[in-house]
Amino acid sequence: MNTTIIKSDIDIAIELLRNDEVVAIPTETVYGLAAKATSETAVKKVFEAKGRPLTNPLIVHTNSVEKIESFVQYIPEAAKVLLEKFSPGPITVLLPTNGILPSVINNGKKLLAFRIPSHPIALSVLEQLPFPLVAPSANRFTSISPTNAWHVFKDLEGRIPYILNGGSCDIGLESTVVGFENNAPVIYRQGAITTQQIKDVAGEVKINSNKGSQPSPGMTAHHYSPSTPLYVVDNIKNIASTYEAETTALLCFGQYNYKFPVAHQFMLSVERNLLEATRNFYKAMHYLDELNLKCIVAEKLPNIGLGIALNDRLKRAAHPFPSLAEPVIQ
Ligand code: TXA
Ligand code: MG
Repeated sequence: MNTTIIKSDIDIAIELLRNDEVVAIPTETVYGLAAKATSETAVKKVFEAKGRPLTNPLIVHTNSVEKIESFVQYIPEAAKVLLEKFSPGPITVLLPTNGILPSVINNGKKLLAFRIPSHPIALSVLEQLPFPLVAPSANRFTSISPTNAWHVFKDLEGRIPYILNGGSCDIGLESTVVGFENNAPVIYRQGAITTQQIKDVAGEVKINSNKGSQPSPGMTAHHYSPSTPLYVVDNIKNIASTYEAETTALLCFGQYNYKFPVAHQFMLSVERNLLEATRNFYKAMHYLDELNLKCIVAEKLPNIGLGIALNDRLKRAAHPFPSLAEPVIQ
């Protein structure tokens, strides 16, 4: 593969997808690397373009619950309630596959992940196609998720033929992945729908520790990472004696640290608004990584609402794992 084209022509995307090609498409969460879910050849191309091991399952995207029903044995009541409330939107449900879709999607597991995106372009693509699409985030395995077409291009240029440009993603963080045990939701990946939102609808919710009998295979410890080493601190104000001013990039929430050059700092939200911070999060990571400094220091976000998912991403992005506020200068 040589050329990767970025354009907003939806017809080109549809034609390529029909022909088993891989196309990056915008969704409301992050850009997805889409391919025909009914074609093993097309699905394998996604794993290859991403450099992702086949053991990490992909999410199947459709535009309706009826279509999901045709690929599963049944939908638990709790899943129906969540789909009703949050779909189309940033929720992914794990359901028992009926075996119609190729097992390469989920590495032959019993459960298959489904999501109905709300982005009008993604929905329009899905409406025009007679098959569902697999779509992991459109980045190389373990690197930073993309929230605009340029982010995708940086990572996948030459590896995919087409990026359907739909501007910046509104939400900017992946969907929440939810499984079900005894008809109660279990969160496998924190995401854009908060635990509290799910609790409000479902009454109770468990968090999958990823250590039990049914871990989420894609939730590897080290993930979502910039190539610049990233450290997480409690308060960005107190780091001047630990990190060198000229060679450190800062991920800020509500406050800058004026002992460091402002051009090396990205403000997630000056008003400490977690929705705004979420929208800016991956953009900030891409920006700070491109500065090519010695390290990035990120301030931990308040551990409430969307802050829980953002802190989860920070922890996985941190270097070295587990996240430590390692001093760079002494
Ligand atoms: O917002 C999103 O979910 C984006 C957009 C493009 O839709 N997609 C996305 O896909 O983030 P991906 O492949 O980067 O992450 C999907 C995660 C996997 O890492 C894994 O943790 C979980 O969903 N997952 C998928 N299928 C699963 C399964 N059968 N069992 C358990 N976990 C699964
Ligand atoms: Mg991903």
